Amino acid sequence: MKATRRAKITALGRYVPPKVVTNYDLAKRIDTNHDWVVERTGIVERHWVEPGTPTSELAAQAVGDLLKNRGIEASEVELLIVATVTPDMFFPATACIVQNKIRATHAWGFDVSAACSGFLYALTVGAQFIESGAHNKVVVVGADVMTSITNFEDRSTCVLFGDAAGAVLLEPSDEEDFGILDYKHEIDGSGGEFLYMPGGGSLHPASHETVDKKMHFIHQEGQPVFKYAVRKMGEISRAVLERNGYEGKDLDLFIAHQANLRIINAAADRMGLDESKVVKNIHKFGNTTAATIPLAIGDALDDGRLKKGKLVVLAAVGAGYTAGSVLARWAY
Ligand code: UT7
Repeated sequence: MKATRRAKITALGRYVPPKVVTNYDLAKRIDTNHDWVVERTGIVERHWVEPGTPTSELAAQAVGDLLKNRGIEASEVELLIVATVTPDMFFPATACIVQNKIRATHAWGFDVSAACSGFLYALTVGAQFIESGAHNKVVVVGADVMTSITNFEDRSTCVLFGDAAGAVLLEPSDEEDFGILDYKHEIDGSGGEFLYMPGGGSLHPASHETVDKKMHFIHQEGQPVFKYAVRKMGEISRAVLERNGYEGKDLDLFIAHQANLRIINAAADRMGLDESKVVKNIHKFGNTTAATIPLAIGDALDDGRLKKGKLVVLAAVGAGYTAGSVLARWAY
């Protein structure tokens, strides 16, 4: 893919709610234990919002952090894209609520629904507006309050998720080979039955019955999702590398959606990557859906592994199924 001008990420913002919930805390509420959760998922603790805190609040905090880090005003933002599966409400779009909260008075925007691949899909969409020349400052947010759709009586899902938001700023790159180089995204709707929230939409509008049947919660059959994720994450990441003339050994950093440590390790193995090139922070945050990749970018910036010139693959697989991989030469 040859862009007319490249988009590059120029700043990051994050927000993680302060309340930490450990596996030991969960074991007091449900039939689980620390060892099972760590062995099967790699998760040690996660952060939860106080009940009633909406996704827009986390997103607005993350964008606030982003604007501060870049040293720009909210009024300079031209486009605001929010990836989430836990919007404040069906409508208006969470992007509108965030725009109003941060006073991004010159921005338009919309939400993207692609579950755990949401941040990458939104990033790719945002990059198109930079590459086309339509905009010079695009904010892409991944934010989810997963606890708002978690069934705390279902031990197979409630241990997995956390709440958080992350945001990046996209701007035009003045260096030809720096910025977002390519992407590859896929959907496979035949996987929809394995990870979904059945209630509340037009198929099953909210009713006493849908609430009684707990249809407004995450429903997941873990094993098919696991197998698909392991296969697809490596496959799609290798594909985007190969079509740009790279191999796994050329990659500096692999920043994958944090759903399960075993999925990340298996994908990295399939790409022939050394452990030192793989970003892992699932132990601290659990699966924060659209927020995992910006949080992982943040940790890699903090620990010095991500810096200007590094060749990076961002990869995600999630409900839908959705899958995506973005290749970038880091630009700051
Ligand atoms: O981000 C969106 C995409 N989602 C994913 O990528 C998730 C993909 N799937 C997974 O990560 C894994 O399938 C899970 C972590 C969800 C589950 O791990 P698993 O190794 O597939 O376990 P399982 O569902 O096959 O369950 C194994 C056993 C079962 O007991 P029996 O039937 O063998 O006696 C479960 O009842 O583990 C039991 N179990 C638990 N035990 C203690 C399930 N949840 C728990 C728990 N604590 N929290």
